[in-house]
Amino acid sequence: MARLFFLLSGEHPTLPQAELQSILKAEDHEHQILEKLAQVLRIEASLDSVKSVKSRSAMTRVCGLELLNCHANVANIKNKMGSASLDDVIERDETFVVRVRRVRGSASPAIRVELERKLGELILSKVKGTKVSLKKPQKTFFGILTENRFIFGLKTADILPKPFVARGPRKRPFFHPSAMAAKLARCMVNLAQPKAGELVLDPFCGTATMLVEAGLIGCRVIGFDVQSRMVKGSLQNLLYYGVHPEGMVVADARHLPIANTDCIVTDPPYGKLATTLGWNTRQIVEDTLSMIEDKLPKGRRICMASPKSIKIGEIGEQLGFKQVESHFVYVHRSLTREIVVFERT
Ligand SMILES: C[S@@+](CC[C@H](N)C(=O)[O-])C[C@H]1O[C@@H](n2cnc3c(N)ncnc32)[C@H](O)[C@@H]1O
Repeated sequence: MARLFFLLSGEHPTLPQAELQSILKAEDHEHQILEKLAQVLRIEASLDSVKSVKSRSAMTRVCGLELLNCHANVANIKNKMGSASLDDVIERDETFVVRVRRVRGSASPAIRVELERKLGELILSKVKGTKVSLKKPQKTFFGILTENRFIFGLKTADILPKPFVARGPRKRPFFHPSAMAAKLARCMVNLAQPKAGELVLDPFCGTATMLVEAGLIGCRVIGFDVQSRMVKGSLQNLLYYGVHPEGMVVADARHLPIANTDCIVTDPPYGKLATTLGWNTRQIVEDTLSMIEDKLPKGRRICMASPKSIKIGEIGEQLGFKQVESHFVYVHRSLTREIVVFERT
C-alpha cells in the first residue's frame, strides 16, 4: 500500500471525488480514504490503482505518490523536504522538473514559483547527479497548494481532458442536440461501477454517448431507443469508436426486452430536445424503474440523469431502490440535472 494523492477537476464540487471512489470500488482496489480537500483526494492504496484511474477517469487530472503533506508555509515545506527520503523516487543522473498548482486561489502565485525553485534546488542537493529538464524530464515532482496545505510527491499519471472533447456530440458521425458531453457520460458510467466485460444497458440510448464511454473501458453494451433513427445513429457512433454492441434495439424502455444486465446508465427524455412521445418524464422514469428492478442483480447500480424538478431520487426510493448518491449539474437557466445513483436492494 502507498500514500497516493489525486488532483481532481474543479468543474464540479462533488462528481470528481465520487467518480474516483467508484472507480476504486469497481476495480476492487482495497483503499482507505485519508483526506478530502478542495480538488484533492488523499488515499492509501496499491500503486496499481493508478492504472485503473488513468484508464477510466474523466474528472481526475493528476495522480501522485505522496512524499510530503504539510502546512503551506515555505519554511515549513523546506524543513519537511529536507528530511524526506527520495531514494525510491529518483535515481542519480535522472532529469526532473518540479511543478506546483494552486487550487481555488490557495496561496499566492509568487509562492508557487518560489516553491518550484526551492524544491528543485533541494532535490538537486539531496540526490547527486540529478539535473533539471523543463522540456523532457524523466521524473515530474508535483505539488498542490489547497486549503492552506501543501501536498507534494512524484507524479505517476496525467489524465488529459482532450480525448473527451474530441468525442464531443458534434464530433461524432451521428449528432442530435439531446446528446450528452462525453466527459459527464464517462463519469456516470463510472458511478454505476461496471467492471470490464460486464454488461451496461442504456434504455434511452439517443446517440449512444453512455454506451461509447462504457465500451471504451471494456464493458459489453446494449442500447434501446423508441426511435429507429436514434438506434441507427447510435450504431453508427458506436462502430466509429470501435465499440461493437451486444444489441441495439428499437424498443420502449417501459417494456424492456431484456432478461438481465449488470448495470444501467441512462438519461431519459426531458420532452424538450428529446421526445417523450407525449408522456411526461416523471411517468417514464417511474415506469422504467419499476420495469428494471428484477433485471438487475442485488447490490448492482443504476446511474440516471434527469431534470432536478422530477426528483428521481424520491421516485426510486418509493420503488424500493436505495439512493446511494445524488449530484446536481447546472446546464443553463432552465435546466439543472440531477444525477442519481441507485442500488438494487
Ligand atoms: C435525452 S435523450 C438521450 C441522450 C443520450 N444520452 C445521448 O447522449 O445521446 C433520450 C432518448 O430517449 C428516447 N426515448 C423517448 N421515449 C422513450 C421510451 N419510452 N423508450 C425508449 N426510448 C425513449 C428518445 O428518442 C431520445 O433519444
